[in-house]
Amino acid sequence: MIQAMKIRKITGHIGAEITGVDLAGDLDAATIKAIGDALDEHVAIYFRDQHLTPADIERYVGWFGERLIHPYMQAVKGATYVHQIRKLPDETLNFGGTWHADFTNLTTPGATNSLYSLEVPDFGGETVICNSTAAYEALSLGMKRMLENMNAWHGYSPEYKALYAIRKTELKDQLQSAEDLDVDGEDVLHPVIRSHPNTGRKSLFINPLFTLRFEDMSRAESLPLLNQLYDHITRPEFCVRFGWEKNMLASWDNRQSMHYAVNDYPGQRRVMNRCLTIDTARPVGTAIGEIGSIPAVGLRGLEPGDIVDIHPRMGSKLS
Ligand SMILES: [Fe+2]
Repeated sequence: MIQAMKIRKITGHIGAEITGVDLAGDLDAATIKAIGDALDEHVAIYFRDQHLTPADIERYVGWFGERLIHPYMQAVKGATYVHQIRKLPDETLNFGGTWHADFTNLTTPGATNSLYSLEVPDFGGETVICNSTAAYEALSLGMKRMLENMNAWHGYSPEYKALYAIRKTELKDQLQSAEDLDVDGEDVLHPVIRSHPNTGRKSLFINPLFTLRFEDMSRAESLPLLNQLYDHITRPEFCVRFGWEKNMLASWDNRQSMHYAVNDYPGQRRVMNRCLTIDTARPVGTAIGEIGSIPAVGLRGLEPGDIVDIHPRMGSKLS
């Protein structure tokens, strides 16, 4: 099977189309490894003309790691890990319509994301994905040095809360229960630069939806640099915007990317089956100290000026 499989780069920095493979069929270990390696290297991979049941998708996604049982979306009939992303003609907001990486508000964030297209609009509805490894590598040495010593708090940002107050109504048919979308939870600390568990390559690990602020800095102090880095990561040369067609499977590496679901197809349907994997260990960074050993500590309920012992090196003063 591997002799027939071809991998074609789509852009200079991100994305590859893989042809000559039927993901519903029996694949040998070498082919499966080659697909995993392609995801590590190209960050986003695409397969056209696949005919996949939810069970096929679950098996495929299992090659990448620990599959996630979604915390609030209902699984599709007969599946455990596959849920559906639907936008109907009368709906206005879409799912994932802002730059983000999935579940970085968790101690073990999302690892990979796979979408299989069941219904696509006549135009638009693309998923833009940017490569935060390439973006890291393009930074100046001075900026790399500074960021490698930094951590950032992740949690439900004000932007996330505002968005999901609206989405809670539109998503109600797809939720396990309305309460499941409540945006509570402890904030978690992650390295700003993380090392990839498979390749060791470094990437910028921040995103506008979940990154709240840098460690030991206020949100107001953090946002100028965060926003500058978001502008850098999302430069067109680090992005791929591959058009969807029916029966296409796309997978991307959440550990070294951000993604953005473009909401430019009013009045049309878009239906995708989705399946994620989740990290099984905390992201590993390069900052001084072992962030991986720090328990997740939330900051809610504390007052400005409180000292919380969240880091072996120092307490953090809220501001
Ligand atoms: Fe997402």
